[in-house]
Amino acid sequence: MEYSKSVIELIKARISVRNYQTLSLPIETKKQIEDYILKQEQVTTVLGSKLRFRLLEDIEVKENGKIGTYGSISGGRYFIIGAAKNNDQRAALVDYGYVLEKIVLFLTDWGLGSCWLGLFEKSAFMQKFPLEKDEQTPAVCVFGFSKEKGIIEKQIRNFSRADKRLPWNNLFFRDTFDSPMSDHLCPEYQLPLEMLRLAPSAVNNQPWRVILIDNKFHFYMKNKMLFSFLGQFFLEHNLQFVDMGIALSHFELTANEMGLKGKWIFEKDPPSDKDSKKLVYIISWIILSSKNIS
Ligand SMILES: Cc1cc2nc3c(=O)[nH]c(=O)nc-3n(C[C@H](O)[C@H](O)[C@H](O)COP(=O)(O)O)c2cc1C
Repeated sequence: MEYSKSVIELIKARISVRNYQTLSLPIETKKQIEDYILKQEQVTTVLGSKLRFRLLEDIEVKENGKIGTYGSISGGRYFIIGAAKNNDQRAALVDYGYVLEKIVLFLTDWGLGSCWLGLFEKSAFMQKFPLEKDEQTPAVCVFGFSKEKGIIEKQIRNFSRADKRLPWNNLFFRDTFDSPMSDHLCPEYQLPLEMLRLAPSAVNNQPWRVILIDNKFHFYMKNKMLFSFLGQFFLEHNLQFVDMGIALSHFELTANEMGLKGKWIFEKDPPSDKDSKKLVYIISWIILSSKNIS
């Protein structure tokens, strides 16, 4: 088992934490986290990228000691940073999200709070974690012991619509993109899809769209045209591809925990119809379990 608790419990428990106690991590906890992230460098990624990760501590940042982000992170002392390399830069972003989210859930398993940060002061981090040729670091994760939710955090959660997720019929489809799927129409995979729906995403954008055709779930990214300052930032930095990787990990971890057999395959000619033109194809999951999908 990947974690000591059920991954479904961990996914439900995880929320973005922006307020931390300045307490140090016990040495043993830090070591366990470092061992885990080292192991993650060896995992087979969905799209074949090469990844490396590091735990960093006490980054010196400008901006009055605040970590540069749309949310004011207070008290955050610990970070996981990583780098991804792939000839296909977008594939690197997907894989980065896929693996770093596994690490985020590991931190949740240890009772620690965390938050993905797409807006961060890169130079401060790069001093301690220099990038090699062709590597990219689209986001980092701040973590530590959570403090009770402060007023600023409440406002940010409000602003980023954090407690809201799109309904099933906006995200999941069956056979064609004009037939939305509701949760009772896919009982076997209800939980993997529901856990995907709870995934974090940059500015809570939820770009994931999934269509089930025969024995394959096809995963697409909805390329949202956003005109707000932050939206534009996230679009330009392609954080939506990172969001896709996060969603793939929630789906796969839940399916694995439930004993649902399947694997990722890249379709050269993915299904498309008039509505899929607005979507970017990412990957498909082929169902290998003996039970037929009802
Ligand atoms: C790739 C990515 C980048 C993010 N960047 C930031 C950030 O820079 N600052 C911040 O406060 N939150 C950031 N978040 C957290 C999202 O705002 C948060 O996940 C979303 O609002 C959903 O809330 P939840 O994580 O509590 O479920 C980011 C999340 C993801 C997945």
